[in-house]
Amino acid sequence: MKESTNKKILFSGVKPTGRPHIGNYFGAMKQFVDLEKSGENLCYFMIADYHALNLIQNASEMRENILGVALDYLAIGLDPKKSIIFKQSDVSAHTELAWIFDSITTMPYLMRAHAFKDAEAKNKEINVGTFNYPMLMAADILLYDTDIVPVGQDQKQHVEISRDTAEKFNRTFCKEGDGKQVFKLPEPIILGDVAVVPGIDGQKMSKSYGNTIPLFASYEEIKKAVMGIVTDSSAGIPKNVYAIHKLFRTESELAKIYKENEGKYKALKEALIEDIEAFIKPLREKRAELEKNKDYVLEVLRDGGKSAKEVADKKMEEVKRSIGVNL
Ligand code: TYM
Repeated sequence: MKESTNKKILFSGVKPTGRPHIGNYFGAMKQFVDLEKSGENLCYFMIADYHALNLIQNASEMRENILGVALDYLAIGLDPKKSIIFKQSDVSAHTELAWIFDSITTMPYLMRAHAFKDAEAKNKEINVGTFNYPMLMAADILLYDTDIVPVGQDQKQHVEISRDTAEKFNRTFCKEGDGKQVFKLPEPIILGDVAVVPGIDGQKMSKSYGNTIPLFASYEEIKKAVMGIVTDSSAGIPKNVYAIHKLFRTESELAKIYKENEGKYKALKEALIEDIEAFIKPLREKRAELEKNKDYVLEVLRDGGKSAKEVADKKMEEVKRSIGVNL
């Protein structure tokens, strides 16, 4: 891998803030696997540890979560021989470039970011890292000449901010010389039907809402989560159960099951439990196997970090030339 043919460059990431859920998987991580498998992309999959720092402020928890995402990536089938799997903090160019972006971005612009507005609406005390979050994410994406960014709907604005930031940088600094643009404009890839995977209460599935079904859940956890789905029905169909079931079966399969069990919410939930278990079991087993081989996982991250750093450092030389800090 890692040969630069005319493949598209794909970049995405997951924050190590706890166990991933099926919303993360169907909204984004499944696309990581499919797009890697297609062979048409040169892929970077990052563990966004510095992004997690505004939430995880405990060293052993951070370590465990980082290793956790590395295991998750490998267990869903990402292949370190084909892709670069690395952690953000191993490539210091990310935070360095974020500072440069901070310097060309205005406060009113960042005040329009959803995450900031949500925190403000809830009267939360906002740390500077949360406010600047989109700048670090722009640095992540732009350092690698990224073409495509597979994400869920909640990250769309961040990719748009990355595009705006690339344009602003190019406009500000790429006027002299050959006028070559330093940054490429990335495109988000968001799959319509899984852009927002609902949780067991019908709201967006999110760790912060406590409405998740963990991606590597045990059978007992699956059972507990599914039994807790709020059964709000329309025309005899419990719509929150159905919305999650749709992730695991085709609509025609579901039509049959839901017709046969019309109004029988317990039976429908039991069917959903079995379908989720059938899907999760092999992933859970693969993850448990990988967990026994921590050295291998660490080696994947070390190699990935080296490869990512090479590319990112080269880009930083170009950036430094453009802004004039190289003498
Ligand atoms: P994070 O870790 O919150 O989520 C990882 C991915 O899961 C998607 N997702 C969902 N998709 C559909 N339905 C849901 N209910 C759902 N919940 C989460 C997210 O959209 C995301 O794609 N800021 C990023 C991490 C990041 C990143 C990057 C991503 C840092 N740098 C550069 C792409 C490129 C985040 O917090 O994702």
